[in-house]
Amino acid sequence: MITVYHSEHAQSYIAALSRLLPGHRVSDQLEPDARYAVAWNPPEGFFSNLSGLQGVFALGAGVDRLLGRQDLSPDIPIYRLTDAGMAEQMVEYARYGVLHWQRSFDVYRTQQQAQQWQVRPDRRKADTRITVLGLGEMGGRVAAALAEDGYCVSGYSRKRHALDRVNCISGEAQLNALLAQTDVLINLLPSTALTRGLLSAKRLALLPAGSALIHAGRGDQLDENALLAALDSGALRFALLDVFALEPLEAGHRLWGHPRAIITPHSAAQTLIGEAAAQIARRIQALEQGQEVTGKVERSRAY
Ligand code: GLV
Repeated sequence: MITVYHSEHAQSYIAALSRLLPGHRVSDQLEPDARYAVAWNPPEGFFSNLSGLQGVFALGAGVDRLLGRQDLSPDIPIYRLTDAGMAEQMVEYARYGVLHWQRSFDVYRTQQQAQQWQVRPDRRKADTRITVLGLGEMGGRVAAALAEDGYCVSGYSRKRHALDRVNCISGEAQLNALLAQTDVLINLLPSTALTRGLLSAKRLALLPAGSALIHAGRGDQLDENALLAALDSGALRFALLDVFALEPLEAGHRLWGHPRAIITPHSAAQTLIGEAAAQIARRIQALEQGQEVTGKVERSRAY
């Protein structure tokens, strides 16, 4: 028995998983004999009655909402989606933001409003310095794609990675030094004890004047007041923002109307129902045969 929780698409997941796993009963009912839960942001208490759980499958790449919960024993393994069609979307999102900066679309937009016809100096990709925070499924693909495009790409991760044509670094001192040489900062880190608050006022201030931020990690990593101050002063030319401290972003929040903010509703890389269900079904089949599967979350590092 597999129980599914999704506030909008539960029925679609139930249909897809039932088709892929004909030997299993799949439903949105909380039945104590459920062996697996497939869920996105289930409310607190959701897992309380599921005493027979052997695994939880997150319907997303980030599992911050599944960790540290009172209703879920730390002994129950959690699996997160790995790519499942999201990395390609994230590459598109990052390219949009990077091109926005490189080709000055934000500046031309402002000039348009003032009916001002003024060409900005050309900037080549090789002269556009990009730093990607997080080099996992999403960040690794984004860094590789932008490097392949011809940008000058660096990547920061907790443990140093090795990626072709990407200057990979780790550690706080190296990160701070790199920020001072970054035109476009792309945050794709998971929310962990080490990344919460990472984009503090102090770190934002290290970015060169006129740089840009693309923020699609988690809202708790960014000091939104510091961001607003940097946007107000023009220290940051613009921010492309997909995640927020509080989601949905509250009505009336200053970021909504800020001329230097571009807001998307946590849609940079959406979970694709078909791909996600197929990946989860493959993993459940493997687990049922006693095999190891990828995507298992290490709770100590929170991803
Ligand atoms: C989206 O934020 C996800 O974690 O997949």
